[in-house]
Amino acid sequence: MRSLSTDALRRAYIDFFVKKHGHVEIPGASLIPENDPTVLFTTAGMHPLVPYLLGEKHPSGSCLVNCQHCVRTQDIDEVGDSSHLTFFEMLGNWSFGAYFKEGAIRMSFQFLTEVLELPKNKLAITCFAGDTDAPCDNESARIWESLGIPNERIGFLTKAKNWWGPAGHTGPCGPDTEMFYWIGPSEFPPPGSNPANDEVNWLEIWNDVFMEYNKREDGTFEPLRQRNVDTGMGLERVAQVLQGVESVYETDEMLPILKRVLREDLWGDIQRLRHARIIVDHLRAATFIIADGIEPSNVDRSYVLRRLIRRAIRSARAIGIEHSGSFTPTVAKEVIAQHGHVYGSLRTNEQKICSILRREEEQFGKTLQEGLRHFTKTVSTLRDGVQAWRAPQDDTVTHFDGHTAFHLYDTYGFPIELTKELAAEQGLSVDEAGFAKAFEEHQELSRAGAEKKFTGGLADHSAETTKLHTATHLLNAALRKVLGQHVQQKGSNITAERLRFDFNHSEKMTQEQIAEVERLVNEVIEADLPVAYHLTTVEGAKREGAVGVFDERYGSQVKVYVVGDDTKKTVFSREICGGPHVSRTGMIGAFNIQKEESVAAGVRRIKAVVTGGPAEIDVAREM
Ligand code: ALA
Repeated sequence: MRSLSTDALRRAYIDFFVKKHGHVEIPGASLIPENDPTVLFTTAGMHPLVPYLLGEKHPSGSCLVNCQHCVRTQDIDEVGDSSHLTFFEMLGNWSFGAYFKEGAIRMSFQFLTEVLELPKNKLAITCFAGDTDAPCDNESARIWESLGIPNERIGFLTKAKNWWGPAGHTGPCGPDTEMFYWIGPSEFPPPGSNPANDEVNWLEIWNDVFMEYNKREDGTFEPLRQRNVDTGMGLERVAQVLQGVESVYETDEMLPILKRVLREDLWGDIQRLRHARIIVDHLRAATFIIADGIEPSNVDRSYVLRRLIRRAIRSARAIGIEHSGSFTPTVAKEVIAQHGHVYGSLRTNEQKICSILRREEEQFGKTLQEGLRHFTKTVSTLRDGVQAWRAPQDDTVTHFDGHTAFHLYDTYGFPIELTKELAAEQGLSVDEAGFAKAFEEHQELSRAGAEKKFTGGLADHSAETTKLHTATHLLNAALRKVLGQHVQQKGSNITAERLRFDFNHSEKMTQEQIAEVERLVNEVIEADLPVAYHLTTVEGAKREGAVGVFDERYGSQVKVYVVGDDTKKTVFSREICGGPHVSRTGMIGAFNIQKEESVAAGVRRIKAVVTGGPAEIDVAREM
């Protein structure tokens, strides 16, 4: 086996496909997908190539190769082990209707065994087992066997494992054949071992996808006009194999970053090492994401970025690293030092990357402090026995209630693991089922939507629902002004397209009343009033005159969203609500009532839309 640096490996791959097999090298794309609303980040080399997989002609021809930097958050919980990363580099080659299975597999095999000189007897393969959508891929298995991979090293797996794509909801996809390298404790794999029966000791290094299907909206598959090949090799993983090191974090390009985070003599402590790896991975991802033009905030990919930075800081905290502003920039500088020669935008954006990270680190420090205060307060209340309850079979354990854990998560950005750690320090255990339930209850709100995207990588329309959500508060307040203070919310339902609001009122609204409500709401939107929330008790909220659905079970603390400024006497609405909302009413766009109707005796329903606001919004924060 050849020992290659990461740089040499990258070059060898491109050269092999360009010089030996007539491919054209294309540059890697930005992490931010262009014209593709179905994913937040570029998750694979094929991503920018979707139109060509669907049949469009690529200007560079039908056989391409490149190195694409990618962000994937699906496996984020596994980051910290020896091989999973949220940010990685993917080497890939493509055929748009040129070569297919035979050509792709032959080239893969040749590169692995002749260029990299990996021993054949440490390689294993998986192929697609077949189902009602597509047949078993015996053809690929036969090709591998003809090249000298023994039958016992070839496993067949279902769609969950051996099918790739589409990257979003719809698009090109197909069965794949994956290549694995033996990293088990024995020098060679035992007879009969392959990745279908041993997931631990075989490391996936390369995936050849045979994209001959298009997945449609309705979930069915249709054959594509052309049969394509899309491959992806994990640069860091293959570098790990070639350099004979234990993990992707110890390759020539990653090791200096890991060393910057944790002294080598402390790696024996597996918990510490895990946190250090999380820091390396997440800040590498954050550095590249910022270089590609994203700043942390609370929506979509900016929220993913924020989560990555915060998770890194949480891990830093867990292993006793100071984080008062300069920690994340220091790690980012090392990332830039290691990768800047390949990714020039890291160098040109160094200043910006460091200052964004510094600001985020400082801000999170403050949020953490506030959250810690809230945590401590809750614990002392617990101690006083107000919220304490005993587990039925165990009268020695006191639980930290799940609702408060959710509040810490939702408001202060405390990951549940952090709350668990803090609670454990106090001899408490967290009611995780209660946390999960509170989380569920907030599913329809966009923060949870963003959470889903964080793990699933899929975009939805959270900016639209957030605008409509704030518009609903304005509508509620306007109705009370126009029709009277008896008006109370009886129901609310928001989709990306419209809001629906039910309220008690005994008569049909007149045209004049509808016009007046619409005018008031639009006036507030035009005034571009600030929106912010503060925390208080239910009693406190009532005292300050906030409206709310008081039959709902609120937690010990509630958020009151205020539209307008108390000091300037411009408050238009004050309402108990979980959020999120836009940070200024101007982001809502024009408000238009489309329908007013009766739904039950004494209950009216309004349907309304907003149009023309910005595509990206900022969410309202604590005041
Ligand atoms: N697009 C394929 C993957 O990411 C090659 O595994």
